[in-house]
Amino acid sequence: MITRRTLMASAAALALQPSMSFASIPDLRAAPADVRLGPPDLPTTAVWAYGDVPGPTIRVPRDGRVQRRFVNDLPQASSVHWHGIRIDNAMDGVAGLTQQAVPAGGTFDYDFAVPDAGTYWYHPHNRTWEQLARGLYGALIVEEDTPPDVDRDEVLLIDDWRLTQDGELHDSFGSLMDWSHAGRIGNWVTVNGKGEHTFEVQQGERLRLRLVNTANARIFDLALGGLKAWLVALDGQPMEAVEEVEALTLGPAQRADVIVDVTAEDEAFVISRERDGDFAISTLRVSGTQSARDTDPVPLPPNDLPQIDLAKARTSELVMEGGAMGGMRGAMMGGRQMGARELAGEGMTWALNGIAGMPEEPMMDLALGETVSMRLVNDTGWPHAIHLHGMHFREARDGTLGPWRDTLLIDPQAETAIAFVADNPGDWLLHCHMVEHAASGMMTWIKVSR
Ligand code: C2O
Ligand code: CU
Repeated sequence: MITRRTLMASAAALALQPSMSFASIPDLRAAPADVRLGPPDLPTTAVWAYGDVPGPTIRVPRDGRVQRRFVNDLPQASSVHWHGIRIDNAMDGVAGLTQQAVPAGGTFDYDFAVPDAGTYWYHPHNRTWEQLARGLYGALIVEEDTPPDVDRDEVLLIDDWRLTQDGELHDSFGSLMDWSHAGRIGNWVTVNGKGEHTFEVQQGERLRLRLVNTANARIFDLALGGLKAWLVALDGQPMEAVEEVEALTLGPAQRADVIVDVTAEDEAFVISRERDGDFAISTLRVSGTQSARDTDPVPLPPNDLPQIDLAKARTSELVMEGGAMGGMRGAMMGGRQMGARELAGEGMTWALNGIAGMPEEPMMDLALGETVSMRLVNDTGWPHAIHLHGMHFREARDGTLGPWRDTLLIDPQAETAIAFVADNPGDWLLHCHMVEHAASGMMTWIKVSR
C-alpha cells in the first residue's frame, strides 16, 4: 500500500533530480578555469579545462562503454577525440571530418565501446594547437580483465607549457615561426598539472606508471631513477615480451606503461633529460618499506588485434616535406599548386605527399580488411610524430614487425614503414601529432569502405 507520505517523498526526490528522470550520461564540461601549475610563488594560470588540469580520468572495463555528454562552455567551438581507441568512426571527434565542431554553448553525446585494455587519452580535435595548449586533456584508462599484480596504478600526464613571467599562457598561439619549426615548445613542464609533482611510495612497492605525453610538440626523453623498471605497453597496447628499461622516449601523444619496483631508500624520480640538464618531473618520496616481489612482471594480456601479413599488403607511401631549413618546394592546396610563399600566406608550411592541409579526397580508399604497408619518408629537417586514427599499426622495418602503436616518431631525414589492417570502417585522419605541424599542413586522411 502506498501512503500519501511515501508518495510525497518520492515526488520530492524526483523533483530534486530532474536530470535523472531520463536516460542521462555524465557531463564532460570544458570551460575556462584558473589552475596552479607552478610553485606557490607563481600566480595561478587562466586555462581552459575539463573541470581541472588534467580533466577527470575516465576508467572503464575492457569491452565497456564510454558515455559522456560533452558540454562546451568554451568561448569557441570544440570537439573531443579519444586518442588511440579503435572507435566507432562517428565518435572519433574530428571536427570537419567525423562531426561538426560543437559550437560554444553546445553539447554532443559521445557513446562508444572500448575494445582494447590500455592507456589512452582524450583531447579536443578543433584548433587543437590552441585548445590542447590551453589545458584541455585527460586520461582514458581501459582496465584489463585481469589487471597485473601491482600495489598501485598511477597515471602521469606529462605536459609542456609556454608561460609568461606572470604565469599566464603566452599568447603566441598560431605563430608561424613555431608552426614552421618544432611547434609550440614551452618553458614549464607539469605532471598531472603540477610543476612539482610528487607522491609517496614505499621501498619495495611495485607500481604501474602510465606515462602520457600530452604536450603540443615536445618530445620527452625520460629516464627513471631509483626504480627498477619494465616496459609493458606502448600506446596502450601490451608488449609481447616484458623488457627492462632505464630510459624511454615519448613523442607527442605517445604513451608508455612501465611497471616499476621502488629500489631507492629516500627518493626515486621520473627524469626529463634536456640539452641543458636533467630535471625531475615527478618525485616518488620513499617512506617505509615493504617486501619486494622476487619475480619480474609478466606481459599484460594481449588485446584482440588483427594479424598482419606483409605478403598480402597493398603498398603506399607518405612523404613529409616542408618546414624551416629544409624547404617547401611548393605543394597543392585546395586543388591548386602553390609556391612556398603563397602557402605560407595561408599558414601552410608542411606537406604530405605534396599536399598541404586536408585534401578533398582521401589519401587511400581501402576495402574493409585490406592490409597496408606504408613507407614513411621524412624529407624534412625535423622529427615528426605520425598518428593514425581508428586503427593501430606496427612499424615494419625490413620486414620485421615492431610493437603495436598509434603514433610513431620519425627522425629528420629518416625513413621507415608501418603496416596495418584496415579493419575499422570510416574516415580516419593520418597526421603529425606535433599539432602545429598538423595545423600547417601535415594532415591527410584515409577511407575504409565496407
Ligand atoms: Cu591525438 Cu588526431 O589526434
Ligand atoms: Cu610534425
